[in-house]
Amino acid sequence: MCGIIGYIGKNVESVILDGLERLEYRGYDSAGLAVCRQGNIQSFKAVGEVSKLKRTVKFCDDFGIGIGHTRWATHGAISLENCHPHFSQSGDTALVHNGIIENFEDIKAQLSGMQYYGQTDSEVAAKLIGDKLSISSLRKMIKKIAGSFAFAAISKGGDSIYFAKQKSPLYIAKKDDGVMLASDPSCFAGFSNEYISLDDGEYGRVSISNLTIYDSNDKILQKQPQKLDFKFVDEEKKGYAHFMLKEIYQSRLTLENIIEKYSGSQMQEVLSQIKSLNFDRIFLIGCGTAYHAALIGQYYLRQAFCIDIYAAVASELQNECLPIDESSLCIFISQSGETADTLAALEYCREKGGKIVSITNTIYSTMAQKSDFCLPLCAGQEKAVASTKAYFAQCLILYIFTLFLQRKDYITSLKTFKNQIDYGDDFALGEIADFISKYQKVFFIGRGVDLITAKEASLKLKEITYIFSSAESSGELKHGVIALVDENLPVIVIATDEHLFKKTLNNAHEIKSRGGKLILFTTLNIDDDTAACFDKVIKANSAQKPLLPLQIIIQLQKLAYFTAVKLGNNPDKPRNLAKSVTVE
Ligand code: M6R
Repeated sequence: MCGIIGYIGKNVESVILDGLERLEYRGYDSAGLAVCRQGNIQSFKAVGEVSKLKRTVKFCDDFGIGIGHTRWATHGAISLENCHPHFSQSGDTALVHNGIIENFEDIKAQLSGMQYYGQTDSEVAAKLIGDKLSISSLRKMIKKIAGSFAFAAISKGGDSIYFAKQKSPLYIAKKDDGVMLASDPSCFAGFSNEYISLDDGEYGRVSISNLTIYDSNDKILQKQPQKLDFKFVDEEKKGYAHFMLKEIYQSRLTLENIIEKYSGSQMQEVLSQIKSLNFDRIFLIGCGTAYHAALIGQYYLRQAFCIDIYAAVASELQNECLPIDESSLCIFISQSGETADTLAALEYCREKGGKIVSITNTIYSTMAQKSDFCLPLCAGQEKAVASTKAYFAQCLILYIFTLFLQRKDYITSLKTFKNQIDYGDDFALGEIADFISKYQKVFFIGRGVDLITAKEASLKLKEITYIFSSAESSGELKHGVIALVDENLPVIVIATDEHLFKKTLNNAHEIKSRGGKLILFTTLNIDDDTAACFDKVIKANSAQKPLLPLQIIIQLQKLAYFTAVKLGNNPDKPRNLAKSVTVE
């Protein structure tokens, strides 16, 4: 799982580094680039972020041919040897790869006489393609490979970049004085306003004067470019210590953008068209935080309709024997629109005849392109790995979708909510962050929709603090999990539903009797006696009932953020993660 870029033209190093920065959301374990000039290849590599690579590179503004890579390790340790580009035996061919070569060990066993300097599957591809780079050697290589790939390769003395795509994204933009290939068309913004999207099985070569693309049957293809109507805005922290905090505070702005976009006729028309589709069941599909948004969508839609509505984790969808067919509406939720598990689930639903809708923040993404309809999140660029404003937006779009199907006014409700959003008291949240940062594990509990918020809050806490955390149904505790409760366990109780509060309070008492520490996050007005049961209480402003999960999650996102900072972690780039997960 990684990002790749190729470039032919002037200032190769700086163009590639700029592209790698845009692709860093795909992984930041290591970064590297190789440039061919006057018949020689020079490469630079660094473990860690692209900014580290930048410090090692010798810049040159002469014409050259280059490839670059930012890595999220799948095979082989995070080390300089495993950093891309990888080289053929003599070093004459350099290659970057995004994907996973599933049969790399078999290929390695069959290739005799090779010396390997690292442990990656990608290095095997570089050895397989060989020292003499050509369409024929590229074709032979990809026919032997099982798995997913986007490749870009250059050779000593060559004038072209060779490329191939299978299940990992790859795009090309070509002008008279430059050529660019990338995992994501956002790299082309500022370079070209049109690009070619490669499909699975396609491969070829591109030079400054020529582009040849073959299909999977080795026939030459003529592909038409598509327009790139997109300005890359590289968000800055603007006074915030981290992007994550800034993005949490952009929730209100996101809501304003959504109100503007979804009150216009264009989105009304899209929603009407979705509504007119002939469906009698709805599937909501996503991964991680986007799956939690799917659960919120399931909650909204089940409250409104008596049809089958089912939220599914994308990576498990195909194992669940679900009744997906021509009468299914399949809604895919994804910030990036590039998550491999979600894309695989989308293909599966398409094959079963389902109608495809995507809810995504990235309208030029693979997911948006593969959908019948796209509902944009309007959240703006989300840079921090932990998803915050995008989750907020995903839930809001699902709220809009539900109300639209019910023929209800959603704009007035959203406008009211805009003025109710409560970012909480930093001092109080900071105190709780100090408190939980001293513990090795934390539980979140809730009932009904609060259990979904508990899951999302727990995910947020684990991904940026590395504290073990688990979300449990309040009612289920006594059926087993309560065995883990003792004085070393803080339990965060989430309560926004007054009808469920009494029962949740009983469960809180059960925890307290066993020494557990209790922290309440609520939107309800509670009396002093009730408050006294808890070690700490955070009270957020109330709002309309369906929007309470959004009101409370903002404060729980901030709690995770403050705890991570307290522990000295970088919340924007947590260990072992990437912003977009592009392998299954
Ligand atoms: O780009 P996507 O929304 O498809 O990403 C899905 C998950 O990988 C993502 O939500 C992940 O769980 C976040 N890091 C959570 O903060």
